[in-house]
Amino acid sequence: MANKDLRDWIKGIQAAGELKVIKGAEPKEEIGGIVDIYQRKMGNPALMFEEVPGYPKSFRVIANILTSVPRINVALGLSPTASEMELVHWWRDYMHKAPSFKPKDVNGGPLLENVQEGKEVNIEKIPTPVWHELDGGPFIGTACMVVMKDPDSGWTNYGCYRIQSQGPAVASIMMSPGKHGGFIMNKYHERGEPCPVAVIAGMHPALFMLAGLEVPYGKSEIEAAGGILGEPVEVFNMPRTGLPVPANAEIAFEGFINPGDKINEGPLGEWTGYYAGGSRPEPAIRIATMMHRDDPILMGAIPAVPPNDNTFYLGTYRCGAVWNQLEAAGIPEVKGVWAHEAGGSRFMLTVAIKQLYGGHAKQAGMVASHCHAGAYCNRWTIVVDDDIDPTNFNDVIWAMCTRCDPREQVDIIHGGWSSALDPMCYDSENDRRNSRVVINACIPFNRKKTFPKIARSSKELDARIRAKWQHELPKGF
Ligand SMILES: Cc1cc2nc3c(=O)[nH]c(=O)nc-3n(C[C@H](O)[C@H](O)[C@H](O)COP(=O)(O)O)c2cc1C
Repeated sequence: MANKDLRDWIKGIQAAGELKVIKGAEPKEEIGGIVDIYQRKMGNPALMFEEVPGYPKSFRVIANILTSVPRINVALGLSPTASEMELVHWWRDYMHKAPSFKPKDVNGGPLLENVQEGKEVNIEKIPTPVWHELDGGPFIGTACMVVMKDPDSGWTNYGCYRIQSQGPAVASIMMSPGKHGGFIMNKYHERGEPCPVAVIAGMHPALFMLAGLEVPYGKSEIEAAGGILGEPVEVFNMPRTGLPVPANAEIAFEGFINPGDKINEGPLGEWTGYYAGGSRPEPAIRIATMMHRDDPILMGAIPAVPPNDNTFYLGTYRCGAVWNQLEAAGIPEVKGVWAHEAGGSRFMLTVAIKQLYGGHAKQAGMVASHCHAGAYCNRWTIVVDDDIDPTNFNDVIWAMCTRCDPREQVDIIHGGWSSALDPMCYDSENDRRNSRVVINACIPFNRKKTFPKIARSSKELDARIRAKWQHELPKGF
C-alpha cells in the first residue's frame, strides 16, 4: 500500500470542513492577496486554487495549509477535533518516543507521471504565486523540502529553505547561516565541486513539517517523518543526482549549485510581519530534471504578518518542546504551554502552572523565556494559574489585568537570544540580542486563600447546565 500523500490529507481536511476551493484567481497578485486576507484570522479554511488563468486547467495551488489546529491534527493523524493541549501533548510524546522508519526505495511512483529533462525543463509551467505585493518574484518553494547529501557521511538532509523561481530552469535558494543545507553545500564547494540538490514542492504536510523543524545535525527528517506517518516513506532516486524524493510527491526538480554561482534573490515577506532586507545574491540552482504528477498541486506555507502559515504549526511543536524542557529543568505542575499565533509563535509564550510554592511562577517564567526551545526571539512570557486556558487570550489578558502587580510581578531581562528578523533586536551584525519581559500573572502565592472569589459558574454547575441545556448554548463553549 502506498504512503499517505498530500491528496489524502486534502480529503481529510475537506471531510472536516476545512477546505475552500477558489477558481480563476491569477498568480501575480490575486492568489497571494486572497491568502493574505484568509491568513489574518486563525481557523479560516485552507485554500485550493483551481483553474488558474494562463495555466493548464487541472494545475492547482494549495495555501493557508496549517493555520488551524484541526488541519495540523489531520496531518499528524489525530482526530480533527483534538484540542490545542491534546496537540501539544502529542508533540511531547512524539519527542519522547522519537519514532522513525528508514525510507523505502521504490522504482517509480506517481511523481514520474510527467518527466522533463534538459532543455524541456520549465518550472514556470507550474502556477507560482508572487505571495506578497513587495516580494521580489514568485516563490515555488515555501512549504518545500530541499534534499542534499553529505559527501562524507552519506547522510541525507531534508530542510525547508525558500526557493524562488528565476526562469524555466533556474531557481535560487536562501539558507540562513547555520542551516544544515548550507553546511553540506559548502563541503562540495570547498572541493570545487557542484552541490547536487533536489527540491520538492508538494507532499504530505507531515513531511514538510519535519523539514521545517530543527531536527539535529546528522539525523534524518525523512525517517522522523516516517515515524509520524507510521510507515517508511517511499522514495524514488532522482536520475541525475540520485537524491531520494518521496515517490508520491506532487512536484520535484533536481539540479546543481555550482561554486560561486549566485543570483539576486528575494525579498520575501517574513514571519515577523516585516521584510528583513532587500534583494541580494544567493546560490542558484541549475535545474537538470523536473517531474510532476498529473494535475499537480503546488503547496505554499506563507510567512506574513502573524498569524501565518510559516510559524503556527511550528509553535504547536515548540510548546511541546518548552513543556518538556520546563520539566527537565525541574519545574513541577506545568499544566499548559501556548505560543500565541499573533507573536509568530515565538515572541509570546504563555505557561500555565498549578502553583505549589512562592517563587514557582517566577521560576517557570524565567526558564520558559530562556530554555532552548523558548529563548530564540522571545519577547513576552506570561505565567498564569491553571484555571486560565493559555490558548484563550481573553483569559490570559484577564489574568494579566487582575492578578499581576507590575511592581513585583514583571521582570525585564536584557541581552536575550534574538535575530536580525526581530525588528527590535539590538542592531549589531554578529550579536543580535533583545530585551524581554516575564510577567507573573498568577494570583500571588501568599494571597491564594484571601483572593476575591471568581464570579463564574463552578465546574459542577457548568456540567449540570451543559447536560440539560446543550441545545440552547453557543457552539464551541
Ligand atoms: C515555511 C518555512 C519556511 C522557511 N524558510 C526558510 C528559509 O528560507 N531559509 C532558512 O534558512 N530557513 C527557513 N526555514 C527554517 C528552516 O526550515 C528550519 O530551520 C529547518 O530546521 C532547517 O533544516 P535544517 O535544520 O536541516 O537546516 C523555514 C521554515 C518554514 C516552516
